Amino acid sequence: MTAVCDVIVAGHICFDVIPRLFGSGEDFFRAFKPGKLVDIGEPAVSTGGPVSNTGIGLLKLGVRTGLMGKVGTDFFGKAILDRLREMGLERSMTVVEGEHTSYTLAITPPGTDRIFLHSRGTNNTFGCEDVNFDAVAAARVFHFGYPPLMKRIYEHGAAELTRIFRRAKEVGVTTSLDMALPDPSSPAGREDWDAALRRTLPFVDLYLPSGEETLFMLDRPTFTRRRAEAGHADVLDTLHIEDLQTVADRALAYGAKVVVLKCGHLGMYLRTAPRAALAGFGACPPADLGNWAGRELWEPAFHVEDVASATGSGDSAIAGFLAAYVRGLSLEECLKYGCAVGAFNVMAFDAVSGIRSWEETTAAIRRGWPKNPVPLVERAAGWRRDATTVTWHGPRDGRA
Ligand SMILES: Nc1ncnc2c1ncn2[C@@H]1O[C@H](COP(=O)(O)OP(=O)(O)OP(=O)(O)O)[C@@H](O)[C@H]1O
Ligand SMILES: [Mg+2]
Repeated sequence: MTAVCDVIVAGHICFDVIPRLFGSGEDFFRAFKPGKLVDIGEPAVSTGGPVSNTGIGLLKLGVRTGLMGKVGTDFFGKAILDRLREMGLERSMTVVEGEHTSYTLAITPPGTDRIFLHSRGTNNTFGCEDVNFDAVAAARVFHFGYPPLMKRIYEHGAAELTRIFRRAKEVGVTTSLDMALPDPSSPAGREDWDAALRRTLPFVDLYLPSGEETLFMLDRPTFTRRRAEAGHADVLDTLHIEDLQTVADRALAYGAKVVVLKCGHLGMYLRTAPRAALAGFGACPPADLGNWAGRELWEPAFHVEDVASATGSGDSAIAGFLAAYVRGLSLEECLKYGCAVGAFNVMAFDAVSGIRSWEETTAAIRRGWPKNPVPLVERAAGWRRDATTVTWHGPRDGRA
C-alpha cells in the first residue's frame, strides 16, 4: 500500500448472492421442499461484510480508505477483488490458495424475515499477519469489524483480536471496533466475551457495537430477559435506558474511550470517558477533547418512512460517524452523520447504494430531517432534549 489512508477497515469480508424471489413468503416456503424446482429471478450480487460496506461507505463520503480482508483464489475471491479494484479500494487484501472465499446466500422471500446461509471460509483464518501494520502506522484510524464471525479472531477468548489491537495502538493509530451478534449456542456465542473485551478494550479508542450485542457480551442475564420479553417483536423496544447505561459504563471501565451503542430505529446511545482517561488517542485525536470528555447523549434516528432493508445499516452508520470524526467534527455532529448515513442505508435494498456523498448527507442533516421518538429516554428521569439539536442529554452528560 503506498497512498496514505485516513481510515483502514479490516476484518470480515464476503461475497453476497441474493436471488430475487417471487410470490409471498408463504408461497416460497411451501415450494422450498426436497425434490422441487423453485423458479427464481435475477440475482443481486455484491461484496458484503464490514470491510466492504464500511469501506465503500467511507469512500462515497470522500474519505481516503484502505481495506484489509482475506479471500481465496476462487471465483468469489476474484469477483470481490475485481469489484474493489474498480472502486480503487483493493489495497492490502490477502489472497490465499486452498481456502474458499466467505460467501452468503440471502433468502429473502417478500414479506417474510430473511434467512442467511453464510459460509465463513477465509474469514475463519484471518489473523494478525493479515494486517499490514506499516500501512496501519501511516493511517489515522484503524477500524475492525465482526470478530464473532471470524474463528481465529474469536477463539481462545479472542486472543488474536487483542493482539491486533495492541499492535495497532503500538504503531500509533486511533482504533475503532464493531461487533456482531453470535448465535448464543455456537462456538463464537460460547466464548467468554466479557473477558475478551476486558483484555481488548484498553486498546480501543472508539467502540461502536450495537446495543443488543453489547448486552449479549457484557450483561447476559439482561439480554436473555429482554429477548424473552420481546418474543417475536424487536428486542430494542423492550430495552430500558439503565440496561444500556450499565454495559456502556462497563465498556468504559474496561478501557474504551468512546462507546457508541447503535440501536436501529431508536438511534444511538453514547458515553465517553472522563477527560483524564482520554489520553492516547494516537494519530487522530478529537479536535476538542473538552467536547468529547464525560458525555452521555442519545441521538435519535432520522425518520425513514419506507424502510427497504436494514442490511448494512450498522456498517453504514460507522462510515458516517468515522467520516465526520476524521474531519475533526464535534461529537454531536459525528453522531448526526452516523445516524444520517445509517438512515440513508435503510432506504435502499442493499448495503451501500443508499449512501450519498458527504455534501448531500450534510444538506440532508441541515434541512432539519425529522427524528424518531426515543421512548426509553423520554420516560427516564434526568434526560433533557436540546430543542435546537434534538439530541437528548443524559443525567451524566458533562455539558448538559
Ligand atoms: N429503521 C431505521 N430508521 C432510521 N434509521 C435507522 C434505522 N435502522 C438503523 N438506522 C440508523 O442506522 C444506525 C445503525 O443501525 P443499527 O443500529 O441497526 O446497526 P447494527 O445494530 O450494527 O445493525 P447491523 O449490524 O444489523 O447492520 C442506527 O443507530 C440508526 O441511526
Ligand atoms: Mg452491526
